[in-house]
Amino acid sequence: LDFIMNAPTDNATSVKRPVTVLGLGPMGQALAGAFLAAGHPTTVWNRTASRADSLVAKGALRAGTPAEAVSASDLVVVCVLNYDAALSVLDAAGEATKGRTVVNLTADTPARAREAAAWAAAHGVTYLDGAIMTPTVTIGTPHAVYLYSGPEDAYEAHRETLNALAGTPTYLGEDPARAASHDVALLDLWWTSVSGLVHSFALARSQGVSATDLAPFAKNIGNLLTSFIDGLAKEADAGEYPGTESDLVSTATALAHIVHASEEAGLDASVLRAAQAVADRAVAEGHGHENVLGMLDTIAGAAGGVAAE
Ligand SMILES: NC(=O)c1ccc[n+]([C@@H]2O[C@H](COP(=O)([O-])OP(=O)(O)OC[C@H]3O[C@@H](n4cnc5c(N)ncnc54)[C@H](OP(=O)(O)O)[C@@H]3O)[C@@H](O)[C@H]2O)c1
Repeated sequence: LDFIMNAPTDNATSVKRPVTVLGLGPMGQALAGAFLAAGHPTTVWNRTASRADSLVAKGALRAGTPAEAVSASDLVVVCVLNYDAALSVLDAAGEATKGRTVVNLTADTPARAREAAAWAAAHGVTYLDGAIMTPTVTIGTPHAVYLYSGPEDAYEAHRETLNALAGTPTYLGEDPARAASHDVALLDLWWTSVSGLVHSFALARSQGVSATDLAPFAKNIGNLLTSFIDGLAKEADAGEYPGTESDLVSTATALAHIVHASEEAGLDASVLRAAQAVADRAVAEGHGHENVLGMLDTIAGAAGGVAAE
């Protein structure tokens, strides 16, 4: 009897806890869809109300105002364009936000995440920040990747509901900005890599090589990058990067070849020129016999690469 009396009433096999999703762009729709599919009573609100229609057809509850939406659930997930939009929606909900837990899955900077946490503290809101590292089609599948940071007890309290989003969630610690810190660094890698890919397609095309013909070799480059990450990360943290296999003088020269080839073909080489300029400056600053990580100090500049709190 004691066992039955103490049994949790809201475990995974019984009651699914309600959740509210504010923001129904492509990502907000995917998030709300995953909560719904997992059986959570899901209340949705979006500035443009019609974007809720298909979710409502699948059983979501439409809220007329942010306040109504926030009042429906202890857990409120926000996913809009940026933090200005997120805070304006939460502000519009007024007193209704008090005592709720907000998980902000909107992407923005670490500084904005700290500001949002301060806003939450001033409004009696428990605040978790999060970042989604994979596209909408992954949400609710094993391929999704999520990062969370903020108060651990709040994360634990809502972990089961958040697990409805599937994939791999990682809790990164109490600092609310830690998820955004990972997010911006990873998006830095993603967007510089993607601009590199697009530029390489343009350069190949200028020489009569189609993107499809280049693709198998491009994939090798992608794999090569992956295979280098752990070793370079270790060296970056240790602060020692000997250029025994290839040094920065050699890298800067290779960059110059690609810039020349691009410009000879009449292409915009401004992104490559910027990379070349950093490599040249690092060589001038005495890092020529280190590997590519010799550019780290040059990129970090006088601030040493550490943001002011
Ligand atoms: N899409 C992806 O694959 C992906 C992947 C990872 C992370 N993310 C992140 O997820 C967040 C949402 O992305 P998204 O793809 O859904 O599209 P989005 O275009 O970044 O955001 C669209 C949403 O923001 C709302 N919005 C914009 N300005 C607003 C304002 N001033 N007040 C209230 N609502 C406002 C829109 O409302 P209306 O419908 O009324 O315009 C819509 O709900 C972004 O931070 C994005 O970086 C997206």
